[in-house]
Amino acid sequence: MKRYLPLALILGISLSASAQDKKIEKKIDSVLKLMTLDEKIGQLNQYTGDRDATGPITNNPNKLKDIRDGKLGSMLNVRGAKETREVQEVAMQSRMKIPLIFGLDVIHGYRVTFPIPLAEAASWDLAEIENGARVAARETAASGVHWTFAPMVDIARDPRWGRVMEGAGEDTYLGSKIAFARVKGFQGKGLGNLDAVMACAKHFAAYGAAIAGRDYNAVDMSEHTLWETYLPPFKAAVDAGAATFMNSFNTLNGIPATGSRYLQRDILKGQWKYQGFVVSDWGSIGEMIAHGYAKDKEQAAELAIKAGSDMDMESRSYLPGLAKLVADKKVPIALIDDAVRRVLRKKFELGLFDDPYRFSDVARQEKEINSAENRKASLTMAEKSIVLLKNEKEILPLSKNLKKIAVIGPLGKSEKDMQGFWSIAWEKDNLISLYQGLKNKVGNQTELLYAKGCELADSSKAGFAEAVAVAKQADVVVMAVGEAFDMSGEAKSRANIHIPGVQEDLIKAIQATGKPVVVLVMAGRPLIFNWTADNVSAIMYTWWLGSEAGNAMANVLYGNYNPSGKLPMTFPRDEGQIPLYYNYLSTGRPAKNDKDTRYRSAYLDMPNSPKFAFGYGLSYTTFDYTDLAVSKTQIKPDEKITVSFTLKNTGKYAGEEVVQLYLQDKFASVVRPVKELKDFQKVMLKAGESKTITFTIDKEKLSFYNQQLKWGAEAGDFKLMIGTASNNIKLEKDFTLL
Ligand code: NOJ
Repeated sequence: MKRYLPLALILGISLSASAQDKKIEKKIDSVLKLMTLDEKIGQLNQYTGDRDATGPITNNPNKLKDIRDGKLGSMLNVRGAKETREVQEVAMQSRMKIPLIFGLDVIHGYRVTFPIPLAEAASWDLAEIENGARVAARETAASGVHWTFAPMVDIARDPRWGRVMEGAGEDTYLGSKIAFARVKGFQGKGLGNLDAVMACAKHFAAYGAAIAGRDYNAVDMSEHTLWETYLPPFKAAVDAGAATFMNSFNTLNGIPATGSRYLQRDILKGQWKYQGFVVSDWGSIGEMIAHGYAKDKEQAAELAIKAGSDMDMESRSYLPGLAKLVADKKVPIALIDDAVRRVLRKKFELGLFDDPYRFSDVARQEKEINSAENRKASLTMAEKSIVLLKNEKEILPLSKNLKKIAVIGPLGKSEKDMQGFWSIAWEKDNLISLYQGLKNKVGNQTELLYAKGCELADSSKAGFAEAVAVAKQADVVVMAVGEAFDMSGEAKSRANIHIPGVQEDLIKAIQATGKPVVVLVMAGRPLIFNWTADNVSAIMYTWWLGSEAGNAMANVLYGNYNPSGKLPMTFPRDEGQIPLYYNYLSTGRPAKNDKDTRYRSAYLDMPNSPKFAFGYGLSYTTFDYTDLAVSKTQIKPDEKITVSFTLKNTGKYAGEEVVQLYLQDKFASVVRPVKELKDFQKVMLKAGESKTITFTIDKEKLSFYNQQLKWGAEAGDFKLMIGTASNNIKLEKDFTLL
């Protein structure tokens, strides 16, 4: 395969059609003509502000002087209407007066925090996810920030990797839909509107497949897996109009992604005709030296700019490296011009040349930040993100007549941990703990008891006795266990993903009191808690839910919201099973069940199956799937099958079900997964209500990358499966593509 496109071709695709675009291209021409080489390189240079550093700062030059000298195009970690205005004023003192772009990691909300992205993905509610990004964009833009480094669209199949919290989980289809929704949410009606921020699809590419789940580690994968599993969410981000991309720290098959022409020039800017710009990850250009790919910063700069990395975040390689490289004729000026064009284009689209301060408006900031409307959106998203894993003996929803509820566990009164890892602009006044949420809910008729029981991650059981004594006084015990906010996130890989410390021992001690126990697991990744899963009657996975965490949990505990979340990632029984995901390839010796191990692709000491499967999640009500009907069982390539069935709410409560359509290509020129999610719908039904649900299957849904990496469908037999979880299929039918 050809690894990259000729330069002329890449540069030749920069012009796009609309009149507005043409006007902007003309303006860029006129600005470019006036710029010196140093000023051009300055546009490709990005420093962090001194507050909220989100990576290692290697040196601390005189940043303001560099801005004044026209040596900076963008800053990250400068936020606030007043602060951004002050820094922008310095840029206006430079010769060319080119405004700076301010970027920030707004990953799950700004001042009002939202559930972590993995939690939001559990909602399978695309409209609500888009709205969450919309709210975050409004607050961010009102704080003078033009650009969020989100969404992270990396597919992740390894829960040891701490950054699973930041993505949409393991599935390419769901991940692509969510990538699209998030980009749309951030960018709203388009750049230039005062409530829109630039999105940044990251980390390009395959960062989520770090070997052994260790952050920043190498990635080694087939082209096939890259194209079929890891790239589609990025393509979805392009289709949604993502203004920028960020490359990644990892090597991909031996080449650092930051220095990969194949990824950035051939695929992104070539095949996908991408017009936005690519920012490096923090220091990743310079890190090519540590990779052993570049001998010094100058060579790193050469490799990165040639590969298509347009902006250097914090590695101080483009400045001063590029000027010498151009002088030595190692880097053509056309490459610099193309990168600068891409950056200037966004500055024009944002309207910054018309008014560099247009986002830095203190009055608007005050009105927008932490508004009741924004908090309401966060609450709704949080309710929808909760996954009910178990509910036996009808413990949930809680009765309104309980006299005493005990909140027990190290996260019962925690506020900061509810914010999750990426919550930069939160403030103490906007956090609701579980305890506080229950207090708001129960009023005076129910007494709320509390005991911490133990710390999150140490070995002391000194608090157990008090916790048991408190539990004994209560009608119901609600336990809050899981991870601290900094146990999942960037550089937060863990080899042991069991519930940390002695928390599961605390659950055992409380369960031994015989009181009804509800366990809430609050975490940034799938954790392992087999004893709890097997012995406790009611379990909810609440992840980290953001500002309104406690209110959302209380609403779900009391049934004011009927849980509807479904797991976007497989929960293993043991770390030894990882990577474990539902859409694995068929093997020649499949095990028929968990006991079938003889000369089978199986473990002798453990089932193959997960503890909780992808797509799994319960409701307080129940749903029946009946009356499957298909319009055809044989189709030609240009035909479609309409699949319909009846979904009935057979329980006592109104509720939402996420109905999932999986397909299997039974034999093909490339071995196919045992099943793949290809569509879903989130359906609301009143108690007793039925609805006919319809899916359409067309050639696109049957397509895959063949041995030549060509996308298309092959004639043959397929199976369609409709279910409530990847391991709980209710209806199925075979059909043939002619
Ligand atoms: C490094 C992270 O990998 C990236 O996702 C983030 O946007 C940058 N740091 C900036 O904070």
